[in-house]
Amino acid sequence: MKILITGGAGFIGSNLAIKLYNLGYEIIIVDNLSTGFLNNLENIKNNIIFENEDIINREKIFKIFEKYKPEYVFHLAAQSSVSFSIKNPDLDMKINYEGSKNIIDASTFFNVKKIIYSGSGGTYYGDYYKYKNIINNSRFNLEKLAPKEFNKKNPISPYGISKAKVLELLKNQNKLNWIALMYGNVYGPMQNPYGEAGVISIFSKKMLLNKKPIIYGDGECIRDYIFVEDVVSANIKAQEKGNNEIINIANNKGYSTLEIYKMLKNLINYKGEFIKKPYRDGDVLVSILNIEKAKNILNFEPKYNIKNGLIKTIEYLKDN
Ligand SMILES: NC(=O)c1ccc[n+]([C@@H]2O[C@H](COP(=O)([O-])OP(=O)(O)OC[C@H]3O[C@@H](n4cnc5c(N)ncnc54)[C@H](O)[C@@H]3O)[C@@H](O)[C@H]2O)c1
Repeated sequence: MKILITGGAGFIGSNLAIKLYNLGYEIIIVDNLSTGFLNNLENIKNNIIFENEDIINREKIFKIFEKYKPEYVFHLAAQSSVSFSIKNPDLDMKINYEGSKNIIDASTFFNVKKIIYSGSGGTYYGDYYKYKNIINNSRFNLEKLAPKEFNKKNPISPYGISKAKVLELLKNQNKLNWIALMYGNVYGPMQNPYGEAGVISIFSKKMLLNKKPIIYGDGECIRDYIFVEDVVSANIKAQEKGNNEIINIANNKGYSTLEIYKMLKNLINYKGEFIKKPYRDGDVLVSILNIEKAKNILNFEPKYNIKNGLIKTIEYLKDN
């Protein structure tokens, strides 16, 4: 079966490509290597098709679809950093929205059976806890009150807005079967520790090199972290289950940046301190997601708790 993965040289995309290749699928990757690396695909690169192309280039994208006629499309290519999007809002609209439109239109035109879109649950609901006035609850209650998929979208960054607008494109067409997976904060092997996003990889690499990580604000930002293997398994389940709907993919567990820092410090045995900087624009205070729908529709159950996921991430970063 032919599978096309956009953004397949990136962090999540390469984990997905390797898994699907090992399951016996024929893989076509479209990636312009703006933040992805061919090294991520080292073990499979001779057995897959790699098209170094920009999803903004509509004509080339249609040609690629015409040439390979993929049956399923996993669409992950995006400018994926919130802080970068604050500095370059127009670029996010171009890559994340117009680029996605090209992929959705080509998928429709060439009769793709289903498109699985990587959405952002961490930004889609915006400052949900703040506007619902429920931010001062215990951690347990914050998890219980986490937003379900039907809550109104409210992204506050250009990244979040551009990612959310793609959902309108998907909802407003009726020829293509789609699923939008709304991730929490994904972490794990192949995440770039020198990038703008991915606190766990960035902190781990710094600590392994005995350098000080930076914590923005008081370190109390809470996030719902999900290990990349769990995200890959959600994508594979979404290929078969669910029709035309958005589904949160996370752990429904919140951890603050400071808690993550302390866990990593212990696991790595880092003896240094951290550098404190002011909060960055675009960061929401609390983001935790309700995952009942993923459990019911996809039969999704995260396999990694935070400790197991952190250990696997550290092991990878030690070797790479
Ligand atoms: N990592 C997370 O925590 C997280 C959370 C929510 C949603 N997502 C979404 O998951 C997807 C993958 O994210 P990631 O963390 O693997 O990011 P990543 O930056 O590692 O991967 C993105 C990939 O897309 C490629 N790309 C970027 N612009 C492109 C373009 N114009 N044309 C072709 N290729 C292009 C990059 O080279 C890269 O390989 C993105 O859509 C992102 O918005 C990620």
